[in-house]
Amino acid sequence: MRLSAMNFASIGLAALAMSTAIAAPVTARTLPAKPAAKSATAKSAAIWQDRKLDAQARATALLAAMTQAEKLQLVRTYFPPFTMGKPGMPTDMIPSAGYMPGVPRLGIPTLRESDASLGVANQVEQRKGDVATALPSSLATAASFDPDVAYAGGRMAGAEARAKTFNVLLAGGVNLTRDPWGGRDFEYLGEDPVLAGNLAGASIAGVQSNHIISTVKHFALNAQETGRMIADSHLDWSALHESDLLAFNIAIARGKPASVMCAYNLVNTDHACESRELLTTVLRGDWHYQGFVMSDWGAVHSTVKAAMSGLDQQSGEELDKEIYFGEPLKAALAKGEVPAAQLDTMVRNVLTGIFASGLYDNPTPVTAQAIDYTAHADVAQKAAEEGIVLLKNAGLLPLAAGAKKIVLIGGHADVGVLSGGGSSQVRSVGGVPIEIPLKGGPAAGFARTTWHNSSPLQALRALLPSAQITYVDGSDKAAAAQAAQQADLALVFATQWRTEAEDILDLKLPSDQDGLITQVAGAQPRTVVVVESGGPVLMPWLDKVGAVLAAWYPGQRGGEAIANILLGKVNPSGHLPITFPASEAQAPRPAPIGLEIVKADDAASNAGSAGGQAKSFVVDYREGADVGYRWYAKQGLKPLFPFGYGLSYTQFGFGGFAVTQSAKGPVVSLDVTNKGQVAGAAVPQVYATLPGGGTARLVAYGRVQLAPGETRHLTLPVEIHALAHWQAGTRNWRIEAGDYRLTLGTQAGDEQASQTLHLAQATLPAAVR
Ligand code: BGC
Repeated sequence: MRLSAMNFASIGLAALAMSTAIAAPVTARTLPAKPAAKSATAKSAAIWQDRKLDAQARATALLAAMTQAEKLQLVRTYFPPFTMGKPGMPTDMIPSAGYMPGVPRLGIPTLRESDASLGVANQVEQRKGDVATALPSSLATAASFDPDVAYAGGRMAGAEARAKTFNVLLAGGVNLTRDPWGGRDFEYLGEDPVLAGNLAGASIAGVQSNHIISTVKHFALNAQETGRMIADSHLDWSALHESDLLAFNIAIARGKPASVMCAYNLVNTDHACESRELLTTVLRGDWHYQGFVMSDWGAVHSTVKAAMSGLDQQSGEELDKEIYFGEPLKAALAKGEVPAAQLDTMVRNVLTGIFASGLYDNPTPVTAQAIDYTAHADVAQKAAEEGIVLLKNAGLLPLAAGAKKIVLIGGHADVGVLSGGGSSQVRSVGGVPIEIPLKGGPAAGFARTTWHNSSPLQALRALLPSAQITYVDGSDKAAAAQAAQQADLALVFATQWRTEAEDILDLKLPSDQDGLITQVAGAQPRTVVVVESGGPVLMPWLDKVGAVLAAWYPGQRGGEAIANILLGKVNPSGHLPITFPASEAQAPRPAPIGLEIVKADDAASNAGSAGGQAKSFVVDYREGADVGYRWYAKQGLKPLFPFGYGLSYTQFGFGGFAVTQSAKGPVVSLDVTNKGQVAGAAVPQVYATLPGGGTARLVAYGRVQLAPGETRHLTLPVEIHALAHWQAGTRNWRIEAGDYRLTLGTQAGDEQASQTLHLAQATLPAAVR
């Protein structure tokens, strides 16, 4: 059987456990490459080892010492689950996403790749017993509006990866949320390019602070899971530059990822991994990116077109229809269809990434090292505590320390907190209390519905030792309502699971949890709902309950984080990085596009998501650059909760809002005062409307911790590219002369103060710096 890109979604990481049984054809490569003539090595050695030179210069020098066989070794990676143990394969592979044999004679390290959107992944426990610290979902990190939290999470995940001998992390997911039901929305950083780009950049910088490589992914416009390998994302290029590409541009500027992972989908009719516009014109030409482009797993469709468009490395090569960058590339080189200079460019890019990340000079250990999981769990807990959003509070929270009789209902809150599914799945420290295999669907091969071992019930009992705290599972609504009635307070834990490879079909809480909440709230007016979700959910019961927390997928210590927030040991400070619509009908599209096509195709081929013969289908991103809250504002729609929204147990006041010019561009300043009785963090947000009108967009934000009564002065840089328009003709950004209206508030649409910024016409370079 030959595995095609199309059916990776169903087989996916998949077949892991049974990997040896799957006879995936493997073209053995020459390993290790024969040493080149001594003289060539000796001549250039001093140059590439010179740490004072920049990464690209070192890469160029090293390249000159390589044989063609060695070069060809660097432009492809194995998918270990399919190749491990096969004759002729390296013997030091461990099951994970990718492996590229190094070139020891030149000091080129073997690349060992692991997924790591939310910590070092170990999907379907492909490495038995190998646990890692599970961060909360990236949406939670985004909700913190705190680059330090993003950096700390990346740094922690990178440290664990290194200690586990990995040196390439498939992290840095920064696709903007264009649809509220996206299966991977939880893995990304929300709907705003400035917020998402900055936090992705911080997290990537954190990963790479360990001298290992991080990707930024999935480049670009990989905005839905339905038919993700055949969906043709259509969007005007200028609008793309001003939205999704701006997020990537900022993430690359801030995080300097050594690699960019191109996406599964097509973009304006070309496969993302063979889009010359994306991989060469934008990435190399506009942004001067020097690292390497690796494909997503199963996203390559050609040899010559892909290589000539700017793809440097075919990832997990056995997952594509062909090992395009193996023998076919060699043949194309021989025929001159791919010039030798192009191979050199590809290899130089890979080497540049290896030098720039510090990996060349700081090789990863060859055996696993000890990890301080307790310290790392603290990192995950802080991220959860900063990211949990208080959506409603009619005086119920924080829970009085004297609360006597509390019942927890549903969500398996007795044993843990929910995790999102897919390649980001971490096998978390402490084991997995619940793991439910999927009955079918595109994710069935590589995802299971999994809870992390962090029990809200136990955490609450630890904080309230003299209270009587019980749990009922909620499967019997009447019994749950009765338990609620007999208690002083009911805490309902509602869950919505999402996974890579599948979009959810609507925003309702599944399994009639709405009915459960309504019935419980009818019996107990003091009802609090804690929602563990991968994005927005509808809340038909909102006005019947006393308080609501959006806890996202809160990670390794989610139970403790939720308990601390409920009790006020931590004051909630998260703000929504994504709009919660009032109904599905408010979204730019009424449902995921292509469902019928994918369903019919799957039925015909019996091969999982779009695994059959269906050609591509168009997803028209008609909202253009008006993503998320900008779409809702443009349509005049009032969502359930707007972007940026989040309550606190204290109140903040703003004053002295001003805008000035600095050498680096416009900056806003303001005073923030904690006017309440408890300490807390404020998240002031500044939105701008351009002289030509249009929708207001986030251009600056801050986060500041304040003691009761304390005032602090903040100075926040304005993201100038968010004030500019992309010029397709000249390939740069243009600031129009005129008045820019800057408003200060705590959510999109909130205007507590405003200022006018007058700007002269100006041109900005294509690349964010
Ligand atoms: C995902 C990537 C991931 C890769 C390797 C793909 O299915 O889209 O995000 O890094 O698999 O596991």
